[in-house]
Amino acid sequence: MAIRKIIRMGHPSLRIAADNVSEDFIGSDAMHRLLADMTDTLRDYGGVGLAAPQIDEPLRMAIIEVPGGPSRYGEIEAIPLTVFFNPTIEILNPEVAGYWEGCLSVPGLRGFVERPQHVMVRYTNLHGQPAELELKGFLATVVQHEFDHLDGRLYIDHITDTTKLVFEEEWLKFSQQ
Ligand code: NI
Repeated sequence: MAIRKIIRMGHPSLRIAADNVSEDFIGSDAMHRLLADMTDTLRDYGGVGLAAPQIDEPLRMAIIEVPGGPSRYGEIEAIPLTVFFNPTIEILNPEVAGYWEGCLSVPGLRGFVERPQHVMVRYTNLHGQPAELELKGFLATVVQHEFDHLDGRLYIDHITDTTKLVFEEEWLKFSQQ
């Protein structure tokens, strides 16, 4: 187990589509090492999600861990540490809502991004089984943000109003949201 370096915007690995995870990889020693590293890294940097490409591993693998409870986004449902292999997202309702997103690969900034708020995630789980997760609200935004990393996208690509891309320090001082 190790805390890995999170690569930042500008590193080309953040801009390429990651490879599918093979059946053989799931459950292997290499997978358990990578998962342990990703978990240590996420907790050390302090985030709710991490995609493998963010530590320069070009695989369609992401983890999410949301503590839940009250937050500046309202009351959030907790998600225990969950591993997603080869995830896909189906939009169940195209109605969007916006959040001020941040990203461990874009440190120090926040940007207001609108995304659909009701989605179905289909993925392969830690045991190699197909799994589904229906998510609404902030958690729907979290999975879309994380899985974008698997296709070489960053949240800043979705910002339509560039006056809403700001430094986190100023955001904490001046933002009402
Ligand atoms: Ni991110």
